[in-house]
Amino acid sequence: MKNINELLGTKYPLIQGGMANIATAELASAVSNAGGLGLIGAGGYDVNWVRTEIRKCKALTDQPFGVNIMLMSPHAKDIAQLVIDEGVKIVTTGAGSPGIYMDAWKQAGIKVIPVVPSVALAIRMERAGADAVVAEGTESGGHIGELTTMALIPQVSSAVSIPVIAAGGIADQRGVLAAFALGAKGVQVGTILLATKECPIHENYKKVILEAKDTDTVVTGRNTGAPVRVIKNKMAVEYLRIAQLGLPLAEMEKLTLGSLRKAVFDGDIDNGSFMAGQISGLIKEVKTVKEVLSDLFDHIDQYKASLEVL
Ligand SMILES: Cc1cc2nc3c(=O)[nH]c(=O)nc-3n(C[C@H](O)[C@H](O)[C@H](O)COP(=O)(O)O)c2cc1C
Repeated sequence: MKNINELLGTKYPLIQGGMANIATAELASAVSNAGGLGLIGAGGYDVNWVRTEIRKCKALTDQPFGVNIMLMSPHAKDIAQLVIDEGVKIVTTGAGSPGIYMDAWKQAGIKVIPVVPSVALAIRMERAGADAVVAEGTESGGHIGELTTMALIPQVSSAVSIPVIAAGGIADQRGVLAAFALGAKGVQVGTILLATKECPIHENYKKVILEAKDTDTVVTGRNTGAPVRVIKNKMAVEYLRIAQLGLPLAEMEKLTLGSLRKAVFDGDIDNGSFMAGQISGLIKEVKTVKEVLSDLFDHIDQYKASLEVL
């Protein structure tokens, strides 16, 4: 099996999650410069925004970086072509199957790494030609599946022969080692990178993460089939209340419209959607991206050797 650092062209076996509205060239280049794989999160942005960020990122780092494409975006097709035109080396995909783009990406020499929430989708992605998969547990921040990282990673690792990258609930060396023990060859992190100096989110967002306890996230959107893990605030509680009443979708959408932007750009504590994972409770200070990556991997062998197991 191919070494994941070789596949990604990185020092550390780490991918930064492609967080919509947050994973700009600023964050992606900081991660790539620190030895991980930075990603530009295309989210719902159009091709012009993504092109600008790709070009900014090229100016800010000479290390490899990638683009995360949300396949349900109306701009997905154009962005799929853009990554070819701009010579992007790695693409990760969310919210569906990238099958229709696979041939063109492979011909362009792009490494394709879909994010999957289940064994079935991992197998489908391997058959479609994926170079690796990110298997993402329900502990993660943002859009999530049902299975926990603990149950998902070993099952996906046993089911496919391409490398598996674990995501969800990883924020220190214990998490990294656990992921490796479960069969992963690398990790993808999102929540811990929110609490970094380089992360371009409102200071209130960082404060919310630092203050969160283990039980402070909830899942909205289960009723609409698009579950999202967020920090429990006024908006999330109100959303869950309305969801229980079975009100029409339009009512729910009124509440959530633009709510991620309210969190990211305005730091609106009450009305923002502060997407974050269950591991938020472990995060107690804002560090540089370089410090985060170093803390996750440097001297990990010493930590491993110090573990008292059985
Ligand atoms: C604020 C936030 C936004 C996210 N947005 C996206 C996204 O647009 N596309 C995607 O593939 N994953 C997204 N994710 C998931 C991350 O890419 C990553 O897999 C996840 O954060 C890993 O779990 P962790 O939060 O426990 O570290 C998001 C996560 C967070 C915290």
